[in-house]
Amino acid sequence: MNDLGKQLERLQKVIARSGIASRRHAEKLIIDGLVKVNGQVVTELGTKVKDTDLIEVEGRKIFPSEKKRFVYYLLNKPEGVITSASDPERRMTVIDLVRSKVKERIFPVGRLDFDTRGLLLLTNDGELTYRLTHPSYQVEKTYRVILNGFISDQALNKLKDGLILKDGLTSPAKILQVKRIKKGDCLSIVEITIHEGKNRQVRRMFEAVGYPIFYLERIAFGPLRIDNKLKPGEFRPLNTAEVKALKREVGLV
Ligand code: URA
Repeated sequence: MNDLGKQLERLQKVIARSGIASRRHAEKLIIDGLVKVNGQVVTELGTKVKDTDLIEVEGRKIFPSEKKRFVYYLLNKPEGVITSASDPERRMTVIDLVRSKVKERIFPVGRLDFDTRGLLLLTNDGELTYRLTHPSYQVEKTYRVILNGFISDQALNKLKDGLILKDGLTSPAKILQVKRIKKGDCLSIVEITIHEGKNRQVRRMFEAVGYPIFYLERIAFGPLRIDNKLKPGEFRPLNTAEVKALKREVGLV
């Protein structure tokens, strides 16, 4: 078969599909001159490759035709664990939690802070990760927040309207539930949905309206909810319907 009969695909897409990097990271690797096609460094985004081309990313070889087995896991992240594949300070990572049972090289989809618990997806599917975390897809994330005192309606309205943080305006949040509880101390439990992913966004939003939070848990990510059968630190594979729902959310099926 000559080259015309072969399917050409964008270099960054092939790299993302291989699971080596998200599409955004693949673009950066290309621009930084860390990608070779058939032995030549390629720095142009959108370069097309064919099935038989040999791609090397920082020395790791990929063939575009390589059929990768994608795996998808839902972890109930505990507090005190970092969302990263490795940590220079040698703190426990989310990958350490799954390493003994998962042989594929997987990555977290987005991040939760060291002190945040709850639903975290892990996968080697670079394209799905790219779409689930890119702001343009506006994937909704819901958090359960606990704070001291009874939160005022005025503060809740500010969260709903959107507010100014040091790195810009937040989009309007949805407040799904508010419980004000008096058990000795006064506490409020709030369920809030946002679709952005600024650093420590939920904590900073509540601080900005005068209510620092002491407990933060992600209870939903797009169409998926936290699995109450999983104790903190436990994980399970997603089933086919869950993977399909995630892909549907970002236009992949
Ligand atoms: N917002 C935060 O403040 N922290 C998280 O971990 C996630 C969202």
